[in-house]
Amino acid sequence: MSLDACKRLAARSAADLVEPGMIVGLGTGSTAAFMVERLGERVAEGLDIKAIPTSNAIEALARSLNIPLTDFATHPVLDMAIDGADEVERGSLHLIKGLGGALLREKIVARAAKRFVVMVDFTKPVDRLGARTPVPVEVVPFGWQCTSVVLGQLGAKLISPRRGPNGDLAVTDNGNLILDCDFGPIKDVQELATRLDGAVGVVEHGLFPCMATDVVVATDREIEQWTP
Ligand code: A5P
Repeated sequence: MSLDACKRLAARSAADLVEPGMIVGLGTGSTAAFMVERLGERVAEGLDIKAIPTSNAIEALARSLNIPLTDFATHPVLDMAIDGADEVERGSLHLIKGLGGALLREKIVARAAKRFVVMVDFTKPVDRLGARTPVPVEVVPFGWQCTSVVLGQLGAKLISPRRGPNGDLAVTDNGNLILDCDFGPIKDVQELATRLDGAVGVVEHGLFPCMATDVVVATDREIEQWTP
């Protein structure tokens, strides 16, 4: 089975956890797009939900599929958020997210949800976060070079400002920049997350410790559902 077929399998399985009447957070990324497509099919069949998207791109996809949208003013608490991830640590279910650049809105939506369902293909589970994926850190543009120094002091070995296809610094939906920070294998995810939370200039980071309530993993043979 191809990687995309695995992503689609995980995505459809996660989308099928949504029940009528729910307020649902829509994640960002290729797996999330498959999930939104499946929700669009279910809405076309009569499923009554409202959704809050985590990026402009996913909002556009949801609108194109006629998925009704809402906002936090009307619905400050979500029943479920569903999103992909870049790495999932086996056992703890800590996550790295944000290679798609939407980590700030993704974390706000996940925090607002009673249940945070993460769906991944077989390439995403790891024994320890950080060995192969940098931690994306969203920073304010003002003084980002100084913030980069601070991140180095917190242990980042290599810090790469995210750039767009034209080579310019990539700007997030929130008008910020992203620094991809290679910390190597992370021994204490919660501790690093707390340090990043406290760094001046950091808006948010892609470590999501102890947030997933369910992880749906698709291999080429089966679907597994992990809980903490
Ligand atoms: C978006 O900002 C990310 O957090 C994505 O959820 C993550 O990068 C997974 O993306 P894919 O589903 O495309 O692998």
